[in-house]
Amino acid sequence: MRGTRVEIRPAALAHNARLARQLADGAEVFAMVKANGYGHGLLLAADAMHGSTAGLGVALVEEARALREHGMTLPILVAEGFFDAEELKEAERLSLEVVVHSLWQVDLLLANPCPVRIWLKVNTGMNRLGFRPDIALQAAAQLRAADMAPVGLMSHFACADVGQDAYSEKQLLVAGQVAEQLMLPLSASNSAALLRYPRAHAQRVRPGIMLYGSSPFDWQTASELGLAVSHRFTARLIAINAVEAGESVGYGATWTATEPRQVGVVAVGYGDGYPRHASSGTPVAVNGVVTELVGRVSMDMLTIDVTGLSAQVGDEVELWGDVVDVDDVARACGTISYELFCQITDRPERVVV
Ligand SMILES: Cc1ncc(COP(=O)(O)O)c(C=O)c1O
Repeated sequence: MRGTRVEIRPAALAHNARLARQLADGAEVFAMVKANGYGHGLLLAADAMHGSTAGLGVALVEEARALREHGMTLPILVAEGFFDAEELKEAERLSLEVVVHSLWQVDLLLANPCPVRIWLKVNTGMNRLGFRPDIALQAAAQLRAADMAPVGLMSHFACADVGQDAYSEKQLLVAGQVAEQLMLPLSASNSAALLRYPRAHAQRVRPGIMLYGSSPFDWQTASELGLAVSHRFTARLIAINAVEAGESVGYGATWTATEPRQVGVVAVGYGDGYPRHASSGTPVAVNGVVTELVGRVSMDMLTIDVTGLSAQVGDEVELWGDVVDVDDVARACGTISYELFCQITDRPERVVV
């Protein structure tokens, strides 16, 4: 057995969901399970968090359908809403809550009236999806006149995870004003805002990444936030080579030993979803001891410095998990844990622990 595996921990997901519920302090928690439960498995994540969440959030109707076919009875919010009349009908059939973010969706609803639950999205500064505040008021009026009154107002923070955040306060102010004018419950907070801005909790929060044991902040670790590791990626050492001073390792000869080193070859690469752009110095752990990547990541292998670690062929290497924080790997790769979780391929063995 090659031994390259991803360990998923439902108990950690449940713990993180309970923490989110405590911190939400009475606001409804909708756990975001889109993108295959941030790579953990859609159904597994939903089942694990079922007891501590008022509802689930997905991006697409297909994701919601998979949850319903699995027997999920919790309310499900579809963050990108419906793409056409057929999906709208499907959303109604599956009793989904749909986000309406654009005028073309309002037109589609007016042409195909149905009693679907609508969360109107207001753009308060993210400038991605959502109506500008004045247009949101008009859209709500049109929908109300057609007996399809929105049941809530939704917005999304652009900078709640940024150290010097001059943005969220303004966004919250605008969102609050629109919600008040429309007399609708408000949902704005992602994980960062849930953890950082109690005032932004409003009536519903939508945490994602914190549920998966990763910190949205670069100044506070997941463990400092009380989050449990839910995703552990490991592989095995399949060779150990002595490398002389002046010799290089791997494609492009990007790393050269300055003194004699022992270099371990690990059976994992970008074909398994480990990021190819992880550079020399990215942390990994062998038998619980942190060391680092040397040279380029290949499709099926990567190389690490095992000098002085008494490592042996067959030993386990942790790419991230209990010893190596996924957020440190993400930083070393210039990305975020979300992407690392989502890009694991089908090749590693998946083990639910
Ligand atoms: C609309 C919406 N709400 C909530 C979330 C959850 O965000 P996070 O994973 O940062 O908590 C996302 C994630 O991208 C989102 O798109």
